[in-house]
Amino acid sequence: MRQLPLFNVSVSTEPCPAPFMGREACRLEAKYASRLREDTQLGRWVSYVGNKDVPILRLYRYKEAFAFRFVEGFIARFGLTPADYVFDPFCGMGTTLLASYAHGIASIGIDRLPVAVFIARTLPRFLHIEPSELRDALETLKTRVNHAEPAPVAMDVAIMQVAFPADTLLRLRQWKTVIAHLPQPLQDVFLLLFFAILEPCSFTSKDGQFLRMKRDKAVADPDEMLASKVAQAEQDLLLLRKVGWLSPKAEPQASLPRVVLGDTRCLTNVPFERKPTAVITSPPYANRYDYTRTYSLELCFHFVSCFEELRELRHSLLRSHIEARVGDGEEAPHPAVQEVVNALRSRTRELNNPRIPDMLTAYFVDMYRVIQEWSRVLERGARVALVVDNVRFDGMMLPVDLVLSEMAEQAGFRVEEILVARYKGNSSQQMGRYGRMPVRESVAVWSKE
Ligand SMILES: C[S@@+](CC[C@H](N)C(=O)[O-])C[C@H]1O[C@@H](n2cnc3c(N)ncnc32)[C@H](O)[C@@H]1O
Repeated sequence: MRQLPLFNVSVSTEPCPAPFMGREACRLEAKYASRLREDTQLGRWVSYVGNKDVPILRLYRYKEAFAFRFVEGFIARFGLTPADYVFDPFCGMGTTLLASYAHGIASIGIDRLPVAVFIARTLPRFLHIEPSELRDALETLKTRVNHAEPAPVAMDVAIMQVAFPADTLLRLRQWKTVIAHLPQPLQDVFLLLFFAILEPCSFTSKDGQFLRMKRDKAVADPDEMLASKVAQAEQDLLLLRKVGWLSPKAEPQASLPRVVLGDTRCLTNVPFERKPTAVITSPPYANRYDYTRTYSLELCFHFVSCFEELRELRHSLLRSHIEARVGDGEEAPHPAVQEVVNALRSRTRELNNPRIPDMLTAYFVDMYRVIQEWSRVLERGARVALVVDNVRFDGMMLPVDLVLSEMAEQAGFRVEEILVARYKGNSSQQMGRYGRMPVRESVAVWSKE
């Protein structure tokens, strides 16, 4: 990868008043202090938990998603109308796209993870089927599943060998086979419901940044789980009809969202209809997030055929994960990052993961590239809402929200405000060692100059 220019900021020589913060982090805190504002109402909506009662979106737990109402809040704050064009460069399950669609606003999203793209493309398809079709299709599938051949899955991926009891795995593979014979859009709709039951039917749990094994977990029965998911989907469709959000004969106010499987670090070939006027998004956090692990069951059942393909996918994602490799000559593209990376490198023997400095370097190189791409493709005056978590490693605090904001300034954005949605403590171990200094989760609001 090309070396990016280092920031040209005057580095303060004043001692930093806050413990465990470098001088650069302190300089950033001082620079943006007047634009940092608590808006803890947002705290409820920056996580997926806010979607638990939202019809259709609740059908699949994309753990890193923000809530539908979060997007609605920013559609209102930015005063977006059907004349706008919304872009989500890290669209995940497509929350931004679905909320824009519901408000009659055209949108486009990109994600590099095929399962995310599949979910984002399939959720709106639920809106175009009759609730009774789901139940009828399930009844048909039930008559076929006992005799079905098990579908091929990527069994050379280690987690697949331990994630399920043998009889559950066999049954899931049989369900996968019969679903593949359904006509569209029922096939995709059922596949989404099938992906949603993999976690409860396994010994795994999507906790934190990984997929954890919980050997003492009670594993659900695939037949019962699928039937209950179908019932939930049917309920959602009926509810949407009742509240009038979904009328089969109504003319859609906006075209269906466009979802692209791609790498948002390069937007050259993205089929934008026109220059986007708003971005509402959340990138992977700089905290060891590895989506190819969290979603490995879904990936191994459908999107990759072997471990090698899974690994290739991991290395094509934004480098927020611990296996991130730093390219020749790549350096942290911001002095606050450099400061933390240097401090951590000097004590790698004490770090519980010595690869963290490389991950941080690579993460910010990638994010700088991403922000430069936004600057290139967005309409003048376009507004951006970006949800990010700050991070702390070995006690060193890194204000990711402010670093990205200063990078955005360099790339031609005005930093309007940084809204603090909530504070998160780190592990109790860290708290004990470094005192109660919480870590912000914020929404950076920028506009393109
Ligand atoms: C925090 S999640 C976004 C969740 C989304 N806001 C939602 O509501 O579902 C970040 C997303 O970035 C995606 N991602 C990682 N690397 C990417 C890349 N290079 N290009 C595009 N998307 C990427 C991940 O797959 C993940 O879905």
